[in-house]
Amino acid sequence: MDLLQNIDKNNLPKHLAIIMDGNGRWAKQQGLLRAFGHESGTKSVKIIIETCARLGIANLTLYAFSTENWNRPKLEVDTLMKILIKSLKKELTTLQSNNIKLNTIGNLEKMPQSAQKELLDVIEKTKDNTKMTLTLALSYGSREEIINVVKNISNKVKNNIISIDSIDDSIINEHLYTQNLPDVDLLIRTSGEHRISNFLLWQIAYAELYFTDVLWPDFKEQNLYEAIISYQKRERRFGKTSEQIK
Ligand code: IPE
Ligand code: IPE
Ligand code: MG
Repeated sequence: MDLLQNIDKNNLPKHLAIIMDGNGRWAKQQGLLRAFGHESGTKSVKIIIETCARLGIANLTLYAFSTENWNRPKLEVDTLMKILIKSLKKELTTLQSNNIKLNTIGNLEKMPQSAQKELLDVIEKTKDNTKMTLTLALSYGSREEIINVVKNISNKVKNNIISIDSIDDSIINEHLYTQNLPDVDLLIRTSGEHRISNFLLWQIAYAELYFTDVLWPDFKEQNLYEAIISYQKRERRFGKTSEQIK
């Protein structure tokens, strides 16, 4: 059965974030090298991006590479960077034809020059697209992001640009990498791991969490629909009582 018919188009997450995990284990299961898992994972990336745009999800954020992932073997890191560059070149037309704008969060300066160049090129070419914002988290770590926020705000306080008393949620939001994005409504993690791994710690304060055992290269349209249907069945109370929500 196609689960699409069970989705309420008026109650979609405005911001969906995904921890795309399990590429390595997927490859291992088939007796392949980890690189094949990453390669295969790009097919899920493409399908999920197109499906989100078709559904009308305004913001999709994908965790593609963490600050901690730099500690993997050099060969794997190099392979991941090559796959990224190749995919950006190949999928520019997908982004254009689906009216999707590319955005990134993370410490881009740590990325190889060639990757930075390709990213800036695609960001520039898609900057006027309006249907969906696709944010790639690359060399991203939430703690590093928060450390930068603290440093930048401290500097502004020191230089009398803002007062300590004025620091609130919105000032913090304005200093995060995600400054133009709404809070995350739904966070999906594949591969059966039940952890956050340094992803969007501030931004997921009231996100609905969805964990699935499906490995990322096996995660396709119907798996996404299942996650959204689960999200739509939940009552988001934001600290209030059920009666107040109804
Ligand atoms: C996710 O898959 C991709 C990245 C973290 C870059 P993994 O490479 O973490 O795959 P597993 O978790 O080892 O199976
Ligand atoms: C999180 O996955 C990072 C990405 C999906 C890019 P990891 O595989 O790196 O996370 P841990 O090490 O299992 O927590
Ligand atoms: Mg992993």
